[in-house]
Amino acid sequence: MKKKIGALFVGALGSISTTVIAGAFAKKLGLMEESYLTTDNDQTLKALNLVPIEDIVFGGWDIVKKDLYTAALEHKVVKEKILEATKNKLQEVVVLAGAATNDGGIIDSFRENAIEAPSRRAITTALINDIEKFKSRHGLDHVIVVNLSSTDKFIQVQGVPEYQSIENFESGLDQDSSRITFGMLYAYAAIMTKSPYVNFTPSVTVDIPALMDLMNQKGVVVAGKDGKTGQTLYKTVIAPMLKARSLKLTGWYSVNILGNKDGEVLNSPENLKTKIETKTGVLSEIMGYDNFDHQVKINYYKPRGDAKEAWDNIDFCGWLGEEMSMKINWVGKDSILAAPLILDLIRLTDFFYQKGEKGVLTQLACYFKSPYNFTNHDFFVQWGTLTDHVSQQYLQQGSAYV
Ligand SMILES: NC(=O)c1ccc[n+]([C@@H]2O[C@H](COP(=O)([O-])OP(=O)(O)OC[C@H]3O[C@@H](n4cnc5c(N)ncnc54)[C@H](O)[C@@H]3O)[C@@H](O)[C@H]2O)c1
Repeated sequence: MKKKIGALFVGALGSISTTVIAGAFAKKLGLMEESYLTTDNDQTLKALNLVPIEDIVFGGWDIVKKDLYTAALEHKVVKEKILEATKNKLQEVVVLAGAATNDGGIIDSFRENAIEAPSRRAITTALINDIEKFKSRHGLDHVIVVNLSSTDKFIQVQGVPEYQSIENFESGLDQDSSRITFGMLYAYAAIMTKSPYVNFTPSVTVDIPALMDLMNQKGVVVAGKDGKTGQTLYKTVIAPMLKARSLKLTGWYSVNILGNKDGEVLNSPENLKTKIETKTGVLSEIMGYDNFDHQVKINYYKPRGDAKEAWDNIDFCGWLGEEMSMKINWVGKDSILAAPLILDLIRLTDFFYQKGEKGVLTQLACYFKSPYNFTNHDFFVQWGTLTDHVSQQYLQQGSAYV
């Protein structure tokens, strides 16, 4: 019998989350003419008979307080016609008080609805309770926890005792160590309830030795990090082409403007640093050298809302050292690009988990800017890794998975 699954979003009232949930409800009402999911359109992935998106039960946490319909209206991403048609269902989605750590940063400044608890240990107890209650209320076999919350401040992992072992992390929870971030609390709760965990944000969460060890101990699967939706997506397609033609990269200047809440948070230098880290790592690995100038700028420009615009100037040399360049102007919609990826990730993560896979799902690297335990950034190598994995492990001679 097919298992019943749910998805709990950290940052459930955010732009991506509301776009995902409104889209899934629109599909259920027959309002979606075409699916933009790779899991629906690629023949290999389609053969897996993944959970229909209409059957996923949604919920989550946030630190702002409003209903999901109002939040979606405010984000101005999903067309009002669709929001009106799905209004009742959107209003029924339960969004619980989030885990906040009172760190005084930009995210803290918009906190309205946080779990009232005396310590980080007590917050994780509340989160574990939330997950178990959600499962039993909806009769779910398991839930997938997806981190879609604001990008957290930059942190160094090396040398911090709480991050290095399960024992240290546990005692950090007991002692309410300020070095344990809110993202780590959700990742810990997911692992402790044996819920697969996906980190779509650039924040450091499960990617510390303590939580990776705990994940292995509990036999949970995880995937991350930082969704590859726009500029880094095409960067990791174009750079392999330059490399394959032996064109020598001398510089890549990338600039972005965006005006949504994500952009507002990234306007804070300590949060921006987390994002820049995941965006800048890709080119030197693909090219095999790093003596070129790679600059990435992200500017908050409110009039744009979710309609992010990116410009790239790529300088390269060819035969006899001749200098040439390429210009790209990408006009994307951040949450519209991200939403189908979230549903693909939920469906595939659920499938691999049900098949008994454990640990980091490296085959999902193509969805991320900075994939855990996967060093090759070439998009088509990553995509081939996923389809090869599926074909070799689960499909026999072109026949569908049963
Ligand atoms: N849209 C894209 O293309 C894309 C690509 C890659 C990564 N991301 C990342 O995805 C994340 C979400 O993006 P978005 O555009 O939906 O952002 P958003 O600002 O619209 O939503 C984030 C939500 O997280 C909530 N939040 C903050 N702290 C929380 C906490 N402690 N607990 C629970 N909720 C909390 C906020 O209140 C907000 O509702 C960001 O980190 C962004 O950098 C986005």
